[in-house]
Amino acid sequence: GVNARLNGVQDRVHPLRSDLCAELPEGSFDVVVANPPMVAVPAGIPYPFVGDGGPDGFGVILRIIEELPGRLAPRGAAYTLGVAAAGDELPLALGALRSEARRLGLRIRLTVTSEHDAGSGSTWDRAIAATSLSFEGSAVTQSSLEERTSKVVQGYADLGVHRVVFFFMTVAEEQHGSVGVLDVRSEHPQNHQGWYVA
Ligand SMILES: C[S@@+](CC[C@H](N)C(=O)[O-])C[C@H]1O[C@@H](n2cnc3c(N)ncnc32)[C@H](O)[C@@H]1O
Repeated sequence: GVNARLNGVQDRVHPLRSDLCAELPEGSFDVVVANPPMVAVPAGIPYPFVGDGGPDGFGVILRIIEELPGRLAPRGAAYTLGVAAAGDELPLALGALRSEARRLGLRIRLTVTSEHDAGSGSTWDRAIAATSLSFEGSAVTQSSLEERTSKVVQGYADLGVHRVVFFFMTVAEEQHGSVGVLDVRSEHPQNHQGWYVA
């Protein structure tokens, strides 16, 4: 609401508080955009509500996908993004995405822009651990950070995760449903991590 007023578009923006689409009126949309909690965080690691996408990063995104059939206008599309857990396959949740795409008749396209090492005590693991500790209100000390980092590392290792990948996602209706991954990581090595394509 405040953001709409600051931008002078309050007559065209209708803020609504809702658990995903639960409070949304009937009808379909040309464009659905979501910046949901979408960081892959191992189970048992407390992490802020705004960011925790579950162990594979798709916990909330898959719930959004499930709500899309019947909500997209003809030629409408949904756009979101995330940081997915990945092992040798890109990403870990590919199988789940494929079966949801077929079941719901959706065309899902992921564009992977970059990756970061995970599950090896990397800066990514330490950042997840530090965020987790500060979310709990604890002081971040050397020893608490080491301890939490080793839990993060163990959590990723249990899932066979050795990297996280940053991605954009587009979803549209398609009769039989499909998932495609466009991997542009090597074309943009300057992306240390993130979604930014220079
Ligand atoms: C990554 S933040 C994005 C915040 C803001 N939309 C933006 O783009 O700057 C994710 C947001 O999703 C909200 N959220 C988490 N679960 C939700 C749910 N089930 N329904 C609606 N919003 C949810 C969180 O409160 C948080 O504000």
